[in-house]
Amino acid sequence: MQAALSFYGTAVGKKMVVAVTGLFLFLFLLIHMLGNLQLFAGPEALNHYAAFLHSKPVLVWGFRVLVAGAFALHILATLQLFLQNLGARPVPYRVKRTVEIDYSSRTMIWSGPLVLLFLLYHLLHLTVGSVHPDFSAGDVYRNVVTAFSLWPVAAVYIGANLLLGFHLKHGLWSWFQTLGLAHPRYNRWRNCFAWLLALLLATGNIAMPVAVLAGWVD
Ligand code: HEM
Repeated sequence: MQAALSFYGTAVGKKMVVAVTGLFLFLFLLIHMLGNLQLFAGPEALNHYAAFLHSKPVLVWGFRVLVAGAFALHILATLQLFLQNLGARPVPYRVKRTVEIDYSSRTMIWSGPLVLLFLLYHLLHLTVGSVHPDFSAGDVYRNVVTAFSLWPVAAVYIGANLLLGFHLKHGLWSWFQTLGLAHPRYNRWRNCFAWLLALLLATGNIAMPVAVLAGWVD
């Protein structure tokens, strides 16, 4: 325990925690998206899947604790690294060179908090139902379709998933770096891989509000 805490006290330790929790959250998002894509298979398939999950409370609550813990650690370690970096350079650079840093890495510091804000809204919207205009517990298909029929709600989901895509692209890229799997010779492949996974997740999630708005799912 003492060894783990003193490792966490170093910048490398915190980066490792961000990388490992980030990968876990990415896997959660992938499974979540695959489950939700059953929207395209109709109400029976999606509601049956949701009912199956809710019939296993120990599994669901165990998973919820893990996901919430991973989110909390991911945010805490990122915040501490950010404050540590600020402390290391109290006087800002006179000339800031961002040429080599791409768009998603520069947006990391505000895409993270915005995705968190979206997550809070999303939980109140589709899990608790308190900000859903017509929530019906147990009828996930209906809740999703009635939600995305309102274009401002669909727009929030599309915008948030675009941001999440950029956040994940940079996260996946950094993941290789932190785990020591980066080499200039493979950087092109690393970049393609990060883009591919981020695009896969963003496209799958965005397909749902777009399909409802377009009337392909009703
Ligand atoms: C179009 C995209 C999405 C759809 C259609 C969707 C749909 C849903 C639905 C219907 C639920 C409630 C499930 C239930 O009560 O049975 C839910 C819960 C949840 N969603 Fe999403 N979601 C989407 C994107 C996201 C994103 C991007 C995140 C993370 C940033 C996320 C994180 C969560 C979490 C943490 C829960 C709570 C899970 C639980 O109650 O155990 N979702 N989502």
